[in-house]
Amino acid sequence: MASKDIVYVNGKFIPRADARVSVDDRGFVFGDGVYEVLRAINGRLFAAKFHNDRLRRSLEGIRIALPDGDSPERFAEIGKQLLKENELTNGEATVYMQVTRGASTRVHVFPPPEIQPTVYISVARFTPNAELAQNGASVISHPDLRWGRCDLKTLNLLPNVLASQTAKERGAFEAMLIRDGVVTEGAKTNFFGVVDGSLRTHPCDNHILPGITRSVLRELARDLNIGLDETPIKSDEIPRLNELFLTGTTADVMPVVRLDEKPVGNGKPGELTRRLQRVLAESLASGD
Ligand code: PDD
Repeated sequence: MASKDIVYVNGKFIPRADARVSVDDRGFVFGDGVYEVLRAINGRLFAAKFHNDRLRRSLEGIRIALPDGDSPERFAEIGKQLLKENELTNGEATVYMQVTRGASTRVHVFPPPEIQPTVYISVARFTPNAELAQNGASVISHPDLRWGRCDLKTLNLLPNVLASQTAKERGAFEAMLIRDGVVTEGAKTNFFGVVDGSLRTHPCDNHILPGITRSVLRELARDLNIGLDETPIKSDEIPRLNELFLTGTTADVMPVVRLDEKPVGNGKPGELTRRLQRVLAESLASGD
């Protein structure tokens, strides 16, 4: 928690303890909203344009229209303002932004047009997990029980929450989700693997979130002439994985060294994983 802990709710910068949202808020009642998590380094937002574009796409995807004057770009400016208010302009932090369809009597259909969306933005100190970045993480495989629009970053995270909790209870960092015999992504990350020497990840379709770290890494790999085959890893290819890693705003490139309690490859972070981990770290340090 930031020292001062000022948050933004519906036009106001206020202490978190005083922040209020209605019990009729559709985010609370239906999970009817979308969100973003951005990485901030020394007060600067990493890959802000990608996050703004994804937030716009998520809003359009669930048909929430922002009032005139509001935009993802404005929310990013508010995020930067919050970093200042909370004395988080030095070092690492995260910015969370959430937009719901607003507060209105509970009916499934959209509320009347005069109901304004609820906008909530907050920041927090962030410490990257250096130990897992160095030694690699354990993950479990888990059925992907989510809906058919995983490309939208919605607040409906129940399958992700349950899969994450199962992973935690089994001593793992993340759940690697499997749908129809292929690896889709993680509960809060995207997955990449090296199978028979080629770098593979699930293509961007309705079954995965188009991760910003995934996009950045794709560009970095292209610059390094590292081929990326966007063909999903099949369950029966898992035993042949030479390397496995996951990506995300708060995970960066994290090597995966154990899957379902068995070693991946030689049980150590792979060479390609290390290379990509380094270039992403350089990109984070230098700005987007
Ligand atoms: N999670 N896949 C899912 C399902 C995610 O929720 C996330 C991000 C990612 C990685 O996307 P990005 O590189 O843009 O962070 C992939 C965020 C951080 C969260 O829910 O906290």
